[in-house]
Amino acid sequence: GAPVEVNISKIEPGQLIRVEWRGKPVWVVRRTEAVINELPTHDDKLRDPASAEMQQPEYATNPLRSIKPEYFIAVGICTHLGCSPTYLPDSFGEQVQGVTSGFFCPCHGSKFDMAGRVFQGVPAPLNLVIPPHQYVDDGTVIIG
Ligand code: FES
Repeated sequence: GAPVEVNISKIEPGQLIRVEWRGKPVWVVRRTEAVINELPTHDDKLRDPASAEMQQPEYATNPLRSIKPEYFIAVGICTHLGCSPTYLPDSFGEQVQGVTSGFFCPCHGSKFDMAGRVFQGVPAPLNLVIPPHQYVDDGTVIIG
């Protein structure tokens, strides 16, 4: 499949947009400062906090799993059996105590944080996949 160019300049803080790449949904989320600050605080609840399984390009192996802290780009497919997790920007705390925002898979209850890292005790075995991508300018990213 061809690379997909995405205009990210109009994404509001907290907003998620979906694009299609190689027939898959890809999310681009503009993370708020609060979300970025929260990400390092719950490693003990995660299955693979450092993403040792390496499902990501090398430039996204940092704890935020992104090139830019503000933008989280991931394949929006649960690593269990392929359902599409629901983005819960404000009400994720009902799923994981002490974590404000994240993704909840309605199929079998897997939970992921705002870097797509899977929480312990759920069926999904792996963190969400980060697709290859690059920024061509401040408002444009190319996925693929
Ligand atoms: Fe997501 Fe099973 S497909 S938890």
